[in-house]
Amino acid sequence: MTNISGKIKELVKTAKKEVAVGDLERLEKLRVKFLGRKSELTKILKSLKDLSVEEKKKIGPVANEARIKINELIETKKEELLAEIDRQKNWIDVTAPGKKKYLGKLNLISQVQREIEEIFTKMGFEIADGPEIEDEWHNFSALNVPKDHPARDMQDTFWLESGNSQDEAEHNERKTFLPRTHTSNAQIRYMETHQPPFKIIVPGRCFRNEASDSTHEHTFHQFEALVVGDDISVANFKDIAQKFFAKFFGIEDLKVRLRPSYFPFTEPSFEFDISCTVCGGDGCKACKGGGWLEIGGAGMVNQRVFEASGYSKDKYQGFAWGFGLERLAMMKYQVDDIRLFADGDLRFVRQF
Ligand code: PHE
Repeated sequence: MTNISGKIKELVKTAKKEVAVGDLERLEKLRVKFLGRKSELTKILKSLKDLSVEEKKKIGPVANEARIKINELIETKKEELLAEIDRQKNWIDVTAPGKKKYLGKLNLISQVQREIEEIFTKMGFEIADGPEIEDEWHNFSALNVPKDHPARDMQDTFWLESGNSQDEAEHNERKTFLPRTHTSNAQIRYMETHQPPFKIIVPGRCFRNEASDSTHEHTFHQFEALVVGDDISVANFKDIAQKFFAKFFGIEDLKVRLRPSYFPFTEPSFEFDISCTVCGGDGCKACKGGGWLEIGGAGMVNQRVFEASGYSKDKYQGFAWGFGLERLAMMKYQVDDIRLFADGDLRFVRQF
């Protein structure tokens, strides 16, 4: 019968080894394995009844002790594991990197819009607004862009369905609607209800029916500027524009230049450039070696636009421009694809 005692001792030894490396889940399995109904030890205990009284006396206590011992091993290990879990829960690793909580924030375009508004407010400008859904008169005709004039094709338009007559003679421009193609509609809207002198900027969303690529979007933002008074000149325009861009880009000696261009609502009209914000004008990749960056269109307000707004002809002078907000944001924050602004990718949004 000594081999039974030996077997029992062997069982305790194995149990000790296995319990030592067990986790909580494994411990329950080991309990079944060593103490369960089908376990080796239970089998031995059951077979005791077939033994002689003397043998029973010898093996019985050994088997019982083994059962108590194995149970103890499992219980102790379990307590250790639970204590460890508890310890880890309450333990603060002061060297661990902090968990960053993300706060909601403004889209980069809104941030840039506010920067621009702040600079202009400080220069005495008023921030004005205009409707995003506009009629044909305010978006085009009042701005001296007549129907069937090739200049209409400069801006691909999303026309909205309206109950308006298809018949040319009955066509009513004020009942034909479109998502505005530029913020210039706000020039007319503002002048209809205000008298000069005034200085305004109008930031806002515009829409054009064109395929998008890294520099074009069907929905984008512009900010219009309109300054009107008795003797506003191109020199005023250059000066204000220089001051704004110098401040916006943080480059004091930033230079501006005008190139002749054409817009129906300005005469004369310009394309407006600034010295490269990366190289300062020496020529680099950003300005394709030219030293200048194109910003947008501008010019002296065409007298026909004043007339359409209800002012008398040749009474006032003013300048206007319409610059793209995304373009400025892309230049300032080195964004290389305009589509990133609106596609909601948090990896992009959280960078700014
Ligand atoms: N509205 C013009 C555009 O969107 C820009 C512009 C505005 C040009 C004001 C001159 C004056 O292209």
